Amino acid sequence: TLKVSLAALLAGTGYVSYELYREANPPPQIPQAATFANGSPRKTLVVLGTGWGSVSLLKHLDTSLYNVIVVSPRNYFLFTPLLPSTPVGTVELKSIVEPVRSITRSSPGEVHYYEAEAKDIDPVAKTVRIKSATKDHDYELDLNYDYLVVGVGAQPTTFGIPGVFENASFLKEIPDAQDIRTKIMNNIEKAATLSANDPERKRLLSFVVVGGGPTGVEFAAELQDYVDQDLSKWIPEISKEIKVTLVEALPNILNMFDKSLWQYAQDLFAMEKIDVKLKTMVKNVNSTTITAQCGDATEDIPYGLLVWATGNAPREVSKNLMAKLEQQNSRRGLLINDKMQLLGAEDSIWAIGDCTFFPGLFPTAQVAHQEAEYLTETLKQQYKIDQLKWEISKTTNATETSKLHSKLDRIVKQQKPFKYNHQGTLAYIGSEQAIADVAVGESKYQMAGSFTFLFWKSAYLGMCLSFRNRILVAMDWAKVYFLGRDSSV
Ligand code: FAD
Ligand code: NAI
Repeated sequence: TLKVSLAALLAGTGYVSYELYREANPPPQIPQAATFANGSPRKTLVVLGTGWGSVSLLKHLDTSLYNVIVVSPRNYFLFTPLLPSTPVGTVELKSIVEPVRSITRSSPGEVHYYEAEAKDIDPVAKTVRIKSATKDHDYELDLNYDYLVVGVGAQPTTFGIPGVFENASFLKEIPDAQDIRTKIMNNIEKAATLSANDPERKRLLSFVVVGGGPTGVEFAAELQDYVDQDLSKWIPEISKEIKVTLVEALPNILNMFDKSLWQYAQDLFAMEKIDVKLKTMVKNVNSTTITAQCGDATEDIPYGLLVWATGNAPREVSKNLMAKLEQQNSRRGLLINDKMQLLGAEDSIWAIGDCTFFPGLFPTAQVAHQEAEYLTETLKQQYKIDQLKWEISKTTNATETSKLHSKLDRIVKQQKPFKYNHQGTLAYIGSEQAIADVAVGESKYQMAGSFTFLFWKSAYLGMCLSFRNRILVAMDWAKVYFLGRDSSV
């Protein structure tokens, strides 16, 4: 047994070191020429965004088939499923990001990256106007494309509710998590200087989360864990006064889950003393108070920290593109067909992930990832189609041309529509418990509790983009288990 365990340990260690070595030492990249060896032009593929959709595409695509240009204001990929764990320090921010350079450098063909924001897309001229996002390096330029992949994601929605943008924190990006962390710590330190019966102390320690979708629920759960497991040790008197409130407009939280699971989560929150206010719709926000409607009654809820998580809205660049195409008549996102082609620009633009709207597909990482895998195949086919078209244009022999045409028809017919394979939904609900709606074929299974939490952990470790991320996240979890979370900014 000892020999077998030792062999397994050595094999495991060998595997880990090999994976880490490979990630840290990418193979040489082939420089991209303007044409292929047969003289055909290498087409330019511009990819917007470095999120779940675009990065999954870049990971799978043979980038030597195109002149690939990536444009994104964020020079890293962010593993969003663990973002709610970061403001309280269960997981460190650096553990869930992967630099764009390490992604682009690992692909077979050279990839150009612009740290910039796409401002405007011209689907007729086939250009994208980009604006630098690099500090102290202002520029704007137009990029020409043959093919464009739009994967710009979405922005948090506020439904135009007054005061939200000015006063609330969101939980979408790294700076959001840092902002929340700073506010929590500042409020605690400020409250500590006030007397116990000062109403301002109560307000500062009132942490309100609006939106009972998975983002709001997971963050409220992490926050309460932090108060119960860590702040209670370092600042017991203040931790007892911290109140976490979750506000949801609908009659229950976590609507996308089975009833048994959202009920389980609500019961756990009640036990953990998270105040869940259901059927309560926020109508107005000022710098200290949110005003909510609950039936006919109006309630004022003072807050020290307000985290707003009520879903997604299209980004400006998507709205600009929608305004240019008459087929784009939805306000929910870019309309695509079942081949991810943008309605109105089917020959040259594909859109994937949260920036799109397609009935039955939700804005999740799982959907964006599968769409990207599908698009990888499409782009491979597109390369073959372009090569055949080029060969046809160069062939004078009629029999040869007819053969090439039938080959081309076969490839075009091979293109099947995208089919989403839902594997399930997971959410962390606090106190080391999670819920899972797992789909296996046509059957659905519900799981909840501590065992599901282990399942949640292993599923998310498995989903991490790189081996490096996996090790860092595992180490963060181990650190919190043995040493707890810290209470500094
Ligand atoms: P994103 O991942 O948001 O990426 C968009 C990219 O576009 C970013 O790189 C951004 O910088 C870039 N960009 C923005 N504007 C521009 C521009 N103008 N030009 C160029 N680039 C631009 N889903 C799950 O399935 N499971 C989960 O557990 C889960 N947890 C989540 C937790 C949180 C806190 C959040 C916020 C979301 C979570 N999601 C989860 C949803 C998931 O993150 C999204 O569905 C997914 O990120 C969508 O991928 P995307 O590529 O479309 O967009
Ligand atoms: P969401 O759209 O899933 O939920 C938003 C919630 O806010 C809704 O329940 C809505 O009723 C509520 N709401 C809206 N306006 C309100 C108001 N004025 N007052 C009170 N409540 C209000 O949004 P969320 O959680 O940001 O998620 C966005 C997307 O990301 C979803 O598709 C979700 O599935 C995905 N996601 C998935 C996760 C997972 O699988 N674990 C984790 C986080 C996000």
